[in-house]
Amino acid sequence: MRGLWNVLACAAGAALALGGSACGDSGSTDGGNGGGGGGDGTGGSTTSTSSGGDAQTPPQGGTAVEAWLAKGDYKNWTCEAAVHEARSPSPHGFNRICSNDVIAGAATGTDDWPEGAAAVKELYASATDADPVGYAVYLKLDADSAGGSNWYWYERVPDDSTAPHDANGVVADGPGSSGPAQTICVGCHAGAGSDTAHTPSPGGRDQVYTPVH
Ligand code: HEC
Repeated sequence: MRGLWNVLACAAGAALALGGSACGDSGSTDGGNGGGGGGDGTGGSTTSTSSGGDAQTPPQGGTAVEAWLAKGDYKNWTCEAAVHEARSPSPHGFNRICSNDVIAGAATGTDDWPEGAAAVKELYASATDADPVGYAVYLKLDADSAGGSNWYWYERVPDDSTAPHDANGVVADGPGSSGPAQTICVGCHAGAGSDTAHTPSPGGRDQVYTPVH
């Protein structure tokens, strides 16, 4: 029962606040090595001067994001100690989350996150694998979330993942105002902190499910 379907149903179900308990992991079995660092040019959005990224800020556009992930600055953020199973309603499978200083510093608050809030989620095929098979990344682009539109969303999964993805494994790569970033990512993350079923971790709110601090 895992499939494209399941992912979409999960996203839709969560968006409608019907509870996400049927949303399991993304079903990757043995993801191999994750397809190596994204050396192709699908992203191509190099025109924006503000999207270069820095140690606390992911860039935008798949090629730039993959290079930034490979550099590994996010590993110095506040990271979970160990890989764990997805917490409901997450479809992300085994993972480890790192929060940047903006999120970690405001994790115990209740206000919307400031501009610059960012997280990286390493995706793993199993709890014991040493290397991630994919990544999910987001960045808040403006103090006003605009319902998720003002966040940048990126995810790359293994080829055999049941999440809908392109030939490079990319599920979403863009602002939450359109496309898969809107329908898939915001479709579920908009529920963060809205009720107990959508609060897998303390402090979850404003698109962020698990603030690590
Ligand atoms: C069906 C719901 C759902 C969908 C769809 C979804 N996520 Fe998540 N995501 C979660 C949950 C729940 C967590 C927290 C998981 C945990 O703590 O194990 C999470 C965690 C994350 C994190 C780590 C920071 C945090 O908020 O906990 C990132 C980054 C992330 N998701 C990005 C994405 C991106 C990018 C997409 C779209 C390609 C996406 N997610 C789609 C539910 C979802």
